[in-house]
Amino acid sequence: MGSTAKFEIDGKTVELPVLRGTDGPAVVDIRKLYAEADVFTYDPGFMSTASCESKITFIDGDAGILLHRGYPIMELAEQSSFLEVCYLLLHGELPTAPQFEEFEHNITYHTMIHEQFDRFFMGFRRDAHPMAIMTGAVGALSAFYHDSTNVNDPAQRMISAHRMIAKMPTIAARAFKYSRGQPFVFPRNELSYAENFLRMCFSVPAEDWVPNPVLTKAMDRIFILHADHEQNASTSTVRLAGSSGANPFACIAAGIASLWGPKHGGANEECLNMLMEIGTVDKIPEFVQGVKDRRYLLMGFGHRVYKNYDPRATVMQKTCHEVLAEVGAGNDPILQVAIELEKVALSDPYFVERKLYPNVDFYSGITLRALGFPPEMFTVLFALARTVGWIAQWKEMIEDPSQKIGRPRQIYTGAPARSFVSVDKR
Ligand code: SDX
Repeated sequence: MGSTAKFEIDGKTVELPVLRGTDGPAVVDIRKLYAEADVFTYDPGFMSTASCESKITFIDGDAGILLHRGYPIMELAEQSSFLEVCYLLLHGELPTAPQFEEFEHNITYHTMIHEQFDRFFMGFRRDAHPMAIMTGAVGALSAFYHDSTNVNDPAQRMISAHRMIAKMPTIAARAFKYSRGQPFVFPRNELSYAENFLRMCFSVPAEDWVPNPVLTKAMDRIFILHADHEQNASTSTVRLAGSSGANPFACIAAGIASLWGPKHGGANEECLNMLMEIGTVDKIPEFVQGVKDRRYLLMGFGHRVYKNYDPRATVMQKTCHEVLAEVGAGNDPILQVAIELEKVALSDPYFVERKLYPNVDFYSGITLRALGFPPEMFTVLFALARTVGWIAQWKEMIEDPSQKIGRPRQIYTGAPARSFVSVDKR
């Protein structure tokens, strides 16, 4: 028999099971608490609440550790590929060569989108934010792929997973091209995932597009860094939407909407805008004082779970230097601002006391801009990469026998019951 936690309230004692996972804090299983003690727990923001059991990703925020199916992010970023990480997140194990070949073929042959789908883009203003386009377009996929929306059919769950992973680059590239007023570019089956995406974004009919292996590798690694991250806000959104039985395309669209927020995936765009606003190293002290005066946040810093360096930020910083060197922007003044700002923040008691460290978004904006993307495309790239994490977590939830529709309760502090008063008596 495992250990238990005793809970006493109003003269009642409830004994609750304590569950222990492979790693991380133990959890008190409170599922029977309301039935036995007639009380709820209260945890806005879920600071102390585990919403589910998962085998996909583990974060040790104090040690700055991130594992995907047990493999450290540093090793995956250096030795694996994004598509191999997609297989790992979906299936739980690294693929054998034949397994990967089949998986890569499945993804490659789902990269095209229905010809009528392109009409959706024409309905947006050219200056529409690409995340607005992504939120609408991905939700519309439900209208095209009815043959993979039955969430209770394992085969359809896998086809929709392949379709999402395969089509997100095509849709994201179209959102980018549409904002540029340039013609859409079709995927090519002979190209790798990252190469295909970069070509769909940056090739133009007027000349041949020449792939750059350094930039392709950097793009692939950036996708790996953003693939999954436990029960963050957008993943929790996808799980909650999926718990009602909604189809996977609609659930991913809900995840995209949540990711767009500046405190979440929108931080990479806000972080670059912040660095551009600071402009030069000599303006850093004045900016930092504004953060301390709580006039604004230091974007790209802080994290709900990491109270140490985000391991992804370490890899992203290295990738940033590689990309800037490759494109001949090694002395980009914005990079100098970022490096100096990080140094100042990591030594300033205000940030040290609050355990604020750079997160994955701090260096990603500089890197993505050097790759040729405008700030408004940064969160689109985050959504492209996180799609595999969302769909793997959604699939795990659907296949979890203990899963139920998510329906949180509340503490009510509104008006007590009262009778209606007609307008002449108010
Ligand atoms: C992502 O959850 C995930 O895993 C997300 C993500 C993923 O891969 O899915 O990792 C991706 O979203 C990364 C985070 C990107 N967001 C930003 O960079 C935006 C800036 N960061 C903050 O918004 C904030 O740090 C959060 C939202 C990320 C975390 O906020 P918490 O956990 O709710 O912490 P908090 O707001 O309670 O802050 C604790 C203290 C507060 O000070 P006090 O009121 O106690 O004095 O730290 C301060 C906050 O004011 N603080 C900051 C700060 N972040 C927290 N102060 C200045 N700048 C910041 N960035």
